[in-house]
Order: sequence, then C-alpha cells, then structure tokens
Amino acid sequence: MKHSHSLFLKVTSMREQLQRMRDAALQSIEQADGESSLQDVRVRFLGRKGELTGLMKGLGALSPEERPIVGQLVNTIKDEIESCLESALTSAREQEINRRLQTERIDVTLPGRRLPCGTRHPITLVIEEVCDIFAGLGFSVAEGPEIEHDWYNFEALNFPPEHPARDMQDTFFVDNNLLLRTHTSPVQIRTMLKQKPPVRIIAPGTVYRCDSDATHSPMFHQIEGLMVDKGVTFGDLKGMLTVFTNQLFGQKTGVRLRPSFFPFTEPSAEVDIACVICGGKGCRVCKQSGWLEILGAGMVDPEVYRHVNYDAEEISGFAFGMGIERIAMLKYGINDMRLLFENDVRFLRQF
Ligand code: PHE
Repeated sequence: MKHSHSLFLKVTSMREQLQRMRDAALQSIEQADGESSLQDVRVRFLGRKGELTGLMKGLGALSPEERPIVGQLVNTIKDEIESCLESALTSAREQEINRRLQTERIDVTLPGRRLPCGTRHPITLVIEEVCDIFAGLGFSVAEGPEIEHDWYNFEALNFPPEHPARDMQDTFFVDNNLLLRTHTSPVQIRTMLKQKPPVRIIAPGTVYRCDSDATHSPMFHQIEGLMVDKGVTFGDLKGMLTVFTNQLFGQKTGVRLRPSFFPFTEPSAEVDIACVICGGKGCRVCKQSGWLEILGAGMVDPEVYRHVNYDAEEISGFAFGMGIERIAMLKYGINDMRLLFENDVRFLRQF
C-alpha cells in the first residue's frame, strides 16, 4: 500500500511535468510564425537534445511498475505535440503559398514590354533591293573573300603585273600576294572557275581602297553582276540595266552608256541614269549635266575567259559593278557619305 502510494505521487508529478511541457509546446506552436520557427519548436521539444527526449531518458530511473505508465504518457504527449506540429506546418505552408500567390500575382492581360527594335542600315537595304531585282531576272547571289589573292583581284582580270591600270585602284596589300580586294570583280573569277556557263550571278560585298576624303571611304561596298551564256550581247546588258535602274529608282528615263575602259571588259562603258534629283533638267547634284554615273560595265574580255578555261568562241557575257554608297545616297537623298559610316542611331532610325 505504501509502495503504491509513492508510485502514485511520482507518476502524478511526472504527469504534471509532462502536461506543463505539453502546454508549453502547444503554446509555442500557436505562437510560431511560419515554417522555420515551427521547425525550431520541433527541435526544442522533440529533437535529440529536446525537452521531451530529456524526460524520456529519465524513464530509466523509474521502477519497472512506474515505467510503462509514465512511458505511455510520454508517448501520448509526444504524439499530441507531433500531430499539432504537423497540422501547424501544413497550414503555415498553405499560408505561405497563398501569400506568394497574392504578392507574386502576374496580370497576364498587361501588354508586354516592348524591346527596342533597330532598323536596317541603308547599305543593307540597297543590297537587298538590288539583289531582289536581279533575282527577278534570274540571277543568284554569290560571295567571295575580302582578303584576296593578287591573282583573283588583278591577274585573272587581265591586269598584268606592273600594268598601269593597277594604279586606278590604290590597293591595301597584306603581303606580296595577298591584298584587301579593291572591287567585287574577283567574284566573277571565282564563280567561273567553279561553274560552267550559263552563269548569272550578283555579288554584293565590302571592298577597300587606300583613299579617304569627303566622297571616298577606305572601306565601301559594291555589287557585281555577271552573265555568261551563248549569244549574250551588249544589247542584253543595256536592257537588263534599264530594267534594273527603272525598278530601283522608279523612273522611266532609262540609262545612258558612255565609252570607258576596264582591263577585264571590252568594250567597256560607264552607265548613267537621268538625275534622280532634277529629272534631267540639271542641278547641283548632277553638276548641271542631267545625268548621274552609277556603274561600270562591259562585255567580258576574252582574256578573262582564258584564265577560267571558258571558250570565248562558244559563249559571251557581260559584267557590271556599282558602288552601293553612291546608290544609297541618291536613293535616300543622303548628302554626306560619312553619315553611312558614323552609325548615329538618330540617322539610322529614319530608314
Ligand atoms: N570593278 C570595276 C570597278 O571597281 C567595276 C566594273 C565591274 C566594271 C564589272 C566593269 C565590269 O571600278
């Protein structure tokens, strides 16, 4: 009897201790703010060094009769704290999700942010337009390297070494054999070496000459044309160029050809269009002549065919080359070539 009385006391004090701990735990859970402070509560009471765990270690000091009673009590309270924690955690997570749904809400009906959009450079616009027009005439686009061999740039185009015609183009040399191409005409040679006639190509690209002033830039652009087939005549050249310039400048005035000289064409011509500013009446831009020179052209010289193993008895053809900067300036009324290279966005935005 005495024995069970003391058991009763011990168990009662343990129960009171446990109940206080339980109340403290439940209160902490209630006061916890968010998931991480709930995890702190778990560590504080149920962790390996936690308060309840500490109490469970004390079970060993109890008598065999006391142990199951108190043990059961500890388990009940442990379960209670755990389930309380679990539901608090669940609702804390839910609250967190709701909070984020509120604060991170995206109004998908708002218009998107516009990215600034550039414009195409007038040089690019002219290249594209010229290529388009010639595509309509059955030409395809060809390209070649900007660092070129002397042979393609001069020799095969019938500029023999030491020939004075080389002085027409002030060349940037890389070494004895390599140079920055001075015109797009080497693409003629590369194309004819690669394919047999018929040939119809248009070759846009950058070219370089050691020349710099108000109307010359050391780097500029050209478009080369080449057509070789059976029975191609000078009349075909004039016809194609008329169609081309009328389409590009939107006028019906046609072209005028003046005799000229290039080592790789014979006969050669310089091609003028009626002045796009005054319509031929005479103005400052055309220097009162009514005409504007826009390209060089001619019938491919048989000497060029010899270099690319074409039979000059079998075929004939024409070639032409134009400066793109000049065409862009005429087409868009740009009065200073430097504007095309400064790339001031206030200028470029207008195209
Ligand atoms: N390559 C010549 C130049 O740059 C232009 C041209 C090309 C002339 C084709 C005739 C035929 O001046």
